[in-house]
Amino acid sequence: MRKKVLILGLCLLGVTHSLSSKDKKSIPLYKDAKAPIEKRIDDLISRMTLEEKVLQLNQYTLGRNNNVNNVGEEVKKVPSEIGSLIYFDINPELRNSMQKKAMEESRLGIPIIFGYDAIHGFRTIYPISLGQACSWNPGLVEQACAVSAQEARMSGVDWTFSPMIDVARDPRWGRVAEGYGEDPYTNGVFAAASVRGYQGDDMSAENRMAACLKHYVGYGASEAGRDYVYTEISAQTLWDTYLLPYEMGVKAGAATLMSSFNDISGVPGSANPYIMTEILKKRWKHDGFIVSDWGAVEQLKNQGLAATKKDAARYAFNAGLEMDMMSHAYDRHLKELVEEGKVTMAQVDESVRRVLRVKFRLGLFERPYTPVTNEKDRFFRPQSMAVAAQLAAESMVLLKNDNQILPLTNKKKIAVVGPMAKNGWDLLGSWCGHGKDTDVEMLYDGLTAEFGGDAELRYAMGCKPQGNDRSGFAGALDVARWSDVVIVCLGEMLTWSGENASRSTIALPQIQEELVKELKKAGKPVVLVLVNGRPLELNRLEPVSDAILEIWQPGVNGALPMAGILSGRINPSGKLAMTFPYSTGQIPIYYNRRKSGRGHQGFYKDITSDPLYPFGHGLSYTEFKYGTVTPSATKVKRGDKLSAEVTVTNTGSRDGAETVHWFISDPYCSITRPVKELKHFEKQLIKAGETNTFRFDIDLERDFGFVNEDGKRFLEAGEYHILVQGQTVKIELID
Ligand code: BGC
Repeated sequence: MRKKVLILGLCLLGVTHSLSSKDKKSIPLYKDAKAPIEKRIDDLISRMTLEEKVLQLNQYTLGRNNNVNNVGEEVKKVPSEIGSLIYFDINPELRNSMQKKAMEESRLGIPIIFGYDAIHGFRTIYPISLGQACSWNPGLVEQACAVSAQEARMSGVDWTFSPMIDVARDPRWGRVAEGYGEDPYTNGVFAAASVRGYQGDDMSAENRMAACLKHYVGYGASEAGRDYVYTEISAQTLWDTYLLPYEMGVKAGAATLMSSFNDISGVPGSANPYIMTEILKKRWKHDGFIVSDWGAVEQLKNQGLAATKKDAARYAFNAGLEMDMMSHAYDRHLKELVEEGKVTMAQVDESVRRVLRVKFRLGLFERPYTPVTNEKDRFFRPQSMAVAAQLAAESMVLLKNDNQILPLTNKKKIAVVGPMAKNGWDLLGSWCGHGKDTDVEMLYDGLTAEFGGDAELRYAMGCKPQGNDRSGFAGALDVARWSDVVIVCLGEMLTWSGENASRSTIALPQIQEELVKELKKAGKPVVLVLVNGRPLELNRLEPVSDAILEIWQPGVNGALPMAGILSGRINPSGKLAMTFPYSTGQIPIYYNRRKSGRGHQGFYKDITSDPLYPFGHGLSYTEFKYGTVTPSATKVKRGDKLSAEVTVTNTGSRDGAETVHWFISDPYCSITRPVKELKHFEKQLIKAGETNTFRFDIDLERDFGFVNEDGKRFLEAGEYHILVQGQTVKIELID
């Protein structure tokens, strides 16, 4: 293959030579920064050969790839006409030298777009997306994405393969860490926030980059949580569950999307004309481009769609997939497919137009190079670290707090135990970009900084995250016996979640559970701190823990916020964006299930049918009292304006933030609907003793209406319910 690309490159260089003197005479329109983008694209496409067009539709790699899934794919010799590169370096120099080659050695000087997986930070790593969702603070997530954009763009990356907005209801699937939980609307709100953070108002700015909604679509439905496998998604569920976040992300202006690996009910995502052309391009009018997931075009062979790589290229391209990431299917076969009439030139032009449009919008033609700066001017800026800490604090969820054991006051002797206490790596989480374990403040250090002046801390690891070595148990028990309180830091290793990291059980390894039972012998209060990338099965740990704080994988700056919550300096405000099942056997379990014909029957005989911690659960150190939910009307007609308000009073003695979740339900509908659906949420800080008002402006079509199996929205007359914190308000929609 490489040989072929080389030959192609050399042929193109020949053409360069013959045209360069002519081109020098006048500046071509496509190079005129003042001309409208569409005119510049017309001009450029009119000058391109088929070979040049084809190369624009391919993505290779540059630099060393650290992701285990992609190892061994480094491209040493890249043709100067290549459309895109995944850039694995942290400094701009390598990019600039490659870009120089594209600008100066190719005939037309089309800049390369450099992409990278900056998923929850580029170098200043902040919490995993699942944790971010638990903050219910899209504004803060937008700020974090802006930090990521600034670090990435200044390091030579124009485009991030983020956000991942795959609704996921099976926590065995390792990639639940990368998305915003089980709810479609929540994923949509955070999709829009991320897009705003990455792209800003003008993605050509030196601190912004292009976003990529992924993995379009339905990847989160992977059967039994196994990665890369088949997804069975009805047309109805495709629309009401999986497409909504993408629609919201596209509306927010996402420049690109990534096609998915999964086979959706018989038509793989990467060869699916209905989702890529009909929905995305025709109905939603998206004018950017779609890149395939890594090798997804070639994998159409494994999925049993295409017999050859050439067929795979034809299926994917004709379905509307513009850019081939690392399959080498388009670079090898598109030209031939055009010549054989199996792919039209018009479609090639349209695809190239979309890729060029994003490059123009990024300002790459005007500023192809990244200014070289010091790493210290790019990473860990004080403002970036503050955002990382604030997001970590707000993403943490206090799951249990018996007898107000937290916050810890008057504790003079604190035992800190567990495999996560002095651990950097595992706090970063999967897809941690250029993050390093040495960047991470360890939990023990955060606790020392928080409590050190007033209390003595002693540490014992107790055990490793997995294995059978119980030799550390005795030492840990000694420390526990000495202490006034035991803080046990347990959890999952970084590699246990993320891509290709499914687990058959969501329980922690037995050795970690046994460690807590051992520590319990000391008779001291046990505070469990959990570091993990998915909801966990906690039914054996819950009874032996007095308090449980879920801190997810909080990134570089999560230790002090965690300690601040334990000390009471910070009042926890996170709430779960994904259900914690009682046990793995309950999966899938999520709040917005459809109703059963026998709601009073059908429960498990051996365990509870309720989750251990439901969606939206999260405790605070203060108390909130909800007033009566008041709608502006109880009878409405189509087109009417409707709103609802509720007051929330902080009846406790300290300030705290509360998130109000507004759900609706439609008790009877010609298509059955979930028991309740989240339609709006808002987080506000409420001072002790004060009362705040929360408001939901209801758009009847959007919030009461529903889509059918072809995405047509309808609104039926009848009764609707607005649900807030145990209250139900009935609204009648009359024709
Ligand atoms: C993953 C994507 C990622 C891509 C590029 C794939 O294996 O599924 O999420 O963006 O690699 O690294």
